[in-house]
Amino acid sequence: SVIPVLLSGGSGTRLWPVSRKSFPKQFAPLTGDQSLFQASALRLSGPRYAPPLVLTNADFRFIVTEQLADAGITPAGILIEPAGRNTAPAILAAALHVARENPDALLLVAPSDHVVPDADAFGRAVEQGIAPALAGRIVTFGIEPTRPETGYGYLECEGAGGISPTPLRRFVEKPDAATAETMLKAGNFLWNAGIFLFTARSMIEAFRAHAPEFLAPVEAALDDATRDLGFLRLAPQPWQTLPDLSIDYAVMEKAANLSVVRFAEHWSDLGGWDAIWREAQSDRPAWRGVVADARSTAIDCDDVLLRSDDEDMEVVGIGLKNMMVVATRDAVLVADMDRAQDVRQAVTALKSRG
Ligand code: GDD
Ligand code: MG
Repeated sequence: SVIPVLLSGGSGTRLWPVSRKSFPKQFAPLTGDQSLFQASALRLSGPRYAPPLVLTNADFRFIVTEQLADAGITPAGILIEPAGRNTAPAILAAALHVARENPDALLLVAPSDHVVPDADAFGRAVEQGIAPALAGRIVTFGIEPTRPETGYGYLECEGAGGISPTPLRRFVEKPDAATAETMLKAGNFLWNAGIFLFTARSMIEAFRAHAPEFLAPVEAALDDATRDLGFLRLAPQPWQTLPDLSIDYAVMEKAANLSVVRFAEHWSDLGGWDAIWREAQSDRPAWRGVVADARSTAIDCDDVLLRSDDEDMEVVGIGLKNMMVVATRDAVLVADMDRAQDVRQAVTALKSRG
């Protein structure tokens, strides 16, 4: 069976000011009453899957155990990263950890902040990927693109449509707007869902070939890891020396053994306020593209998101176009809807102000 590897260490800075370092978006019930993390864990449970491995950091370890217990899931393990170094080291740690028992084990890496309502359809897509993964390929999952999104990776396929799974020509992470536009028009590109299926062995080999500098420090962090309650804490000293890099840049853009399984059902990465705004409209059609919560009022607005997370704060927008306004007790975000990816700069700017 397939071992789900749930990545839950990101701080979701593009959803500032609601998502904060101490309580990031994946643990908050942004849509529905489960958190996105719980929904992801439940989606990857059942007969197709082994118990999950969770990778997170020390701050979130109790939120993780509590939310898993609440969802009725017993994890195979919870690995604690001493510091956030992005997805490349986290995924390598998972692969090396599992390989110590069984290098041929199949791992399914999944983010914990996605919306994929049809879990069974997704499970069938995973099943399609098993044969290529066992044959040594790294399997990606491709979503039909609908706009020139710059926040995703793009998968270049051999042709439009066609059989699935199929070998991948090229992986392009987070293109600029012009490149995204070209790839959308070309018709043979899919969005990378951010979900990967592979054997522990093939991921370790991919690092050896494309990002060998990660191997020794991550091995050492595992060798010197300590058990603490139910957690496996990776050793901080070698871990701190690791570069902060995502798997997409470290491995996927370079690997030649990628395949893609098409996933045609609804999928959304709630990675930014524009995605939250779009997702709300797919639940219930919005008038003039306005999504406003109970504490917000839009007057003569088009394509806006108005949201107040403070019960004592009313938000009123007048004559706004293509904008987002998100108010919390101590911070207000006002931004052009097209600049949703740049919200992370707010966090950087505030940090540098101290
Ligand atoms: N454990 C752990 N440690 N998890 C992490 C870390 C870390 O240091 N950094 C990020 N994560 C988790 C995030 O919480 C999220 O669940 C997942 O890893 C992906 O990170 P994001 O930061 O959300 O990536 P992205 O959305 O910008 O891009 C990725 O996903 C897109 C689709 O959603 C890429 O794979 C893109 O190519 C892809 O299109
Ligand atoms: Mg994301």
